[in-house]
Amino acid sequence: MWSQNALTKRLNLEWPILQAPMGDKTTPALAAAVSNAGGLGGLGMSGLHPDNVRRRIEGFRQLSGGSLNVNYLLWETPDDLSDVGGAMRATLQTLYDKDGLGPVPEPTPSRSRMDPDHLEILLDLKPELASFHFGLPAPDALNALKNAGTMILCSATTVAEAVALERDGADVVIAQGIEAGGHRGTFTNVDVSMQPGLFSLLPQIVHAVSIPVVAAGGIVNGQTIAAAMMLGASAVQLGTAFLRCEEANVAEAHRQALSEANDSATMVTDVISGKPARFLRNTLIDTLADDDPLPFPSQLRLTTPLAEAGDPQYMALYAGQSAKLTVAKPAGELVRHLAAETDASFRRFA
Ligand SMILES: Cc1cc2nc3c(=O)[nH]c(=O)nc-3n(C[C@H](O)[C@H](O)[C@H](O)COP(=O)(O)O)c2cc1C
Repeated sequence: MWSQNALTKRLNLEWPILQAPMGDKTTPALAAAVSNAGGLGGLGMSGLHPDNVRRRIEGFRQLSGGSLNVNYLLWETPDDLSDVGGAMRATLQTLYDKDGLGPVPEPTPSRSRMDPDHLEILLDLKPELASFHFGLPAPDALNALKNAGTMILCSATTVAEAVALERDGADVVIAQGIEAGGHRGTFTNVDVSMQPGLFSLLPQIVHAVSIPVVAAGGIVNGQTIAAAMMLGASAVQLGTAFLRCEEANVAEAHRQALSEANDSATMVTDVISGKPARFLRNTLIDTLADDDPLPFPSQLRLTTPLAEAGDPQYMALYAGQSAKLTVAKPAGELVRHLAAETDASFRRFA
């Protein structure tokens, strides 16, 4: 049966379908609906006050007895930002002026948050999985989580990254193909133009590591799930597909843009957040394209206010290359629909 393997058994999943933990786009209601339907719900925790981390996990636990994946982006920010991003800030000022947003704020350094307060909460509430983007946390934090029974998952965009993650203690690796919406998980600074698509990356990672591999990037329906499982994945992780669920915290204009996207509507750029990520191309990206961005997440803090007017041309419209094939359904229904479609795909070849 395509849906059962060592990873699904360990996480007690009915379906090897993971909902990507997409920062503040994810909600306890979204994650719980996915887990209650037999998939794995995920919650982004980066940049949150520790009380909010606790609240989000407890909110999930009230709604679901299923497994949970909590996620952190791990980044480095220089201590001194006083001398960077002058041209970018000047361009942003013209956009702020258009919306009456006042002066562009001074950038402040900010550290990635998997600090001791967060770790304490995770060790107390014991999510079944903790996942990381942009590399793994320090070995003591990683080992503490593992000793508490939490599995460790991390994204790789190349075979070398996957091999390094296995060596450094990840229990599961995500093969993130270039099709993927959102941030590139790369932590070795491989140029985006050299990062492979999932059809190439996934079987090569499966060949190179002995831990389970989760496929991510452009997976949106039963056919693409079946293809990923055939290429050796133990599970799939879908981001863009879950953005259209009513439980996701996504602006209406963003949902509408996803429903109208086509295969060549997206691009990878660092001008929205300071790190390369895939978005629907819009006026905001084109306007900022010629200036060097501030480091992540300072750049994101400066572009976020522009979305408040509700104009999709000035929003961060995160999307993967297969947005066109996504459907708007409540999350639980979506998981069951994806599972049934995958079943049908495999039956066609039986
Ligand atoms: C809106 C959005 C936000 C994301 N944020 C995160 C994140 O915070 N952490 C993470 O590990 N992956 C994040 N991702 C990437 C996903 O984990 C996954 O690699 C990607 O969504 C798969 O490609 P797809 O969008 O084509 O399904 C994000 C993706 C999207 C679309």
